Amino acid sequence: MTQDIRILLVGLGNLGRRFCDILVEKGPQLEAEFGLRLPVVGAADSRGSAYDEKGLDPAQLSAIKEAGGTVADYPDVGSATETGGDLVAHRDADILCEASPVNLNQGAEPGLTYIRTALKRGMHVVTPNKGPLVVAYRELHDLAEQHGVQLRFDGTVAGGLPAINLGMRDLRGATVDCIEAVPNLTTGFILELLGDGLSWEEARERAREEGSLEADPSFDLDGWDAAVKLVILVNAVMGIPAKLADVDRTGITGLSQDTVLEARKAGRVYKLLATAERRANGGADLRVAPTMMPTDHLLGRLGRKQMGVVYHTDIYGTIMAAIDEPTPVPSAATMLRDIIDIFVR
Ligand SMILES: NC(=O)c1ccc[n+]([C@@H]2O[C@H](COP(=O)([O-])OP(=O)(O)OC[C@H]3O[C@@H](n4cnc5c(N)ncnc54)[C@H](OP(=O)(O)O)[C@@H]3O)[C@@H](O)[C@H]2O)c1
Repeated sequence: MTQDIRILLVGLGNLGRRFCDILVEKGPQLEAEFGLRLPVVGAADSRGSAYDEKGLDPAQLSAIKEAGGTVADYPDVGSATETGGDLVAHRDADILCEASPVNLNQGAEPGLTYIRTALKRGMHVVTPNKGPLVVAYRELHDLAEQHGVQLRFDGTVAGGLPAINLGMRDLRGATVDCIEAVPNLTTGFILELLGDGLSWEEARERAREEGSLEADPSFDLDGWDAAVKLVILVNAVMGIPAKLADVDRTGITGLSQDTVLEARKAGRVYKLLATAERRANGGADLRVAPTMMPTDHLLGRLGRKQMGVVYHTDIYGTIMAAIDEPTPVPSAATMLRDIIDIFVR
């Protein structure tokens, strides 16, 4: 039997657009393997929306966005006046895929309101957007529970790496005593370039050319992104209600090229390491800092576009997972993974 899962997709940037491409490519496989059809009935970007209960064409949505347009231009059903907020508040669907910007300096809006609204309306939510999770982790989980729906967020930590899924599902029954992670791609890339002998200026420029550096790079370089991801991991995997303010955070901008080069000569590497250590008396110590490590350390081995996480547990040993992510496709695909997890038992 085939099941239609009607999707509202909010945010069609790097991830949302590629998610549409994945739906096009994987549609037949999903139907054959799981009996799932995933029509995108509504889509919204910052300039408007489109809704069609019969389903929008994901290939056309992707083409519009790739050409720099807006979904408001979608033929016949596009609207420049109906916003993403209107779509989520008033249109019918089974699930919200929320892929708008993190916007921590704006209280994680509009993503936070979109997710709250969808959960209250009885829609499942999948999101790679860290902002709402770090600002309101417990509230959103309670809301999902009250309304009998699921909130999945596997894409919020380390791109396409199933760090959350592994920690929450496969470590059940264990106590996770310590988490170590290199969850930020940009800083790992820049540190590798510095180690290769590029100056800070050259490394920044190269990261920008390759699309790894945001217009405002401080979110990555000052360690905010890694700190946010650590907080989500600690809440989700350790079950400890940590907040961003709990993280002792140092970014990589204070690290000179000479320091990185000297480490390389000594057979060591710098990584922006995020760690959480469970305290015996409750809670955890959270830290993000550039850390020199041997190249045979589980995370010291990571290459230039790789991210990883290590879980130290009481009964399952020490488990590491890593991802090589040269493009945003694996991050976009986490939304599909989350949807399958919700609907296929
Ligand atoms: N890029 C990655 O590799 C990656 C990896 C993991 C997680 N994430 C997370 O995934 C989310 C999306 O990332 P991205 O790289 O795709 O971002 P992006 O390229 O900046 O795209 C953001 C999208 O959100 C839309 N948007 C902005 N304000 C909106 C509003 N008020 N209502 C509705 N839509 C709005 C934008 O509209 P316009 O198209 O009109 O500008 C755009 O389509 C972020 O939270 C990010 O942290 C990204």
